[in-house]
Amino acid sequence: MIPRPDADSEDRVIFLRDAKFTYESGVEALKGVTLVIDKGEYLAVVGGNGSGKTTLAKHLNGLLRPTGGQVLVMGVQASTRTVAELARVVGYAFQNPDHQLFCRTVHDEVSFGPANIGLDGPEVKRRTDRAIAIMSLSDIRDRPPLSLTLGLRRRVSIASVIAMEPQVLVLDEPTTGLDAREADELMSIIRMLNDEGTTIVLITHEMKLVAEHANRVVVMMDGKVVLDSDTRGAFSDLGLLRRSKLLPPPVTQLAHRLSQIGVSKDILTPQELVFELTRGDDQ
Ligand SMILES: Nc1ncnc2c1ncn2[C@@H]1O[C@H](COP(=O)(O)OP(=O)(O)OP(=O)(O)O)[C@@H](O)[C@H]1O
Ligand SMILES: [Mg+2]
Repeated sequence: MIPRPDADSEDRVIFLRDAKFTYESGVEALKGVTLVIDKGEYLAVVGGNGSGKTTLAKHLNGLLRPTGGQVLVMGVQASTRTVAELARVVGYAFQNPDHQLFCRTVHDEVSFGPANIGLDGPEVKRRTDRAIAIMSLSDIRDRPPLSLTLGLRRRVSIASVIAMEPQVLVLDEPTTGLDAREADELMSIIRMLNDEGTTIVLITHEMKLVAEHANRVVVMMDGKVVLDSDTRGAFSDLGLLRRSKLLPPPVTQLAHRLSQIGVSKDILTPQELVFELTRGDDQ
């Protein structure tokens, strides 16, 4: 994709320039991705299984290094920074939280990152207490993370990332395996962090979450970005979504069907559809 016009702006936190990545097995998982992410954005990365989303995410904090092209974080070549240095700026919550959890207690898990980068005791405590409070983990701070339910394990893994107070939070399928209430609570927390200025990169298969939360959508297919658009625009291109093995949220699909009776196709949420259907009732 073509870099957006503000690619050189000071607000740019991430810039991938023609990034390529081939696994040792020979799989070309990124085939030249150019992507600009600005401060404060709420960006969704979507695409079918194996399209390269997780591989892309792991490039944002140096867990993977491009085999071609460049990754810049805050204008600096990520290749010149360690993963620990990058973790201060870009936090990555793994698709599988169990890949991230290894400490004896929830408290130790959450405090590990801040302690590991050499912050002093009071600062480690402040960050740990804040992250535990944000993720509502106070009651279980002494429990072993791996003894918890998947929903709680995911919250612990996200808390340990939040404790690093990164400017960019990359969440890889954070609602997978959560029940509806857990997912809603998590999405509210992510919204609050974004409102406070954290840049969010949400990788998900849940188009409803994308429609309700993201300002911008990047669609990946076969290691490439095939669409980079504001959210409303992304869901209007049904043909491209289908080719990318994606469907818009049910309410948007319904609006497309109802367009035969004059309803706008441009609907992202149930509230918007209700407004559209009742508009003019008072006239
Ligand atoms: N460790 C690995 N070694 C070799 N190939 C890999 C590895 N991890 C991923 N791949 C391959 O790279 C491609 C992209 O995988 P990736 O995990 O980035 O996709 P994804 O979009 O995150 O998929 P999903 O929706 O299933 O999480 C796929 O073909 C996958 O099989
Ligand atoms: Mg993945």
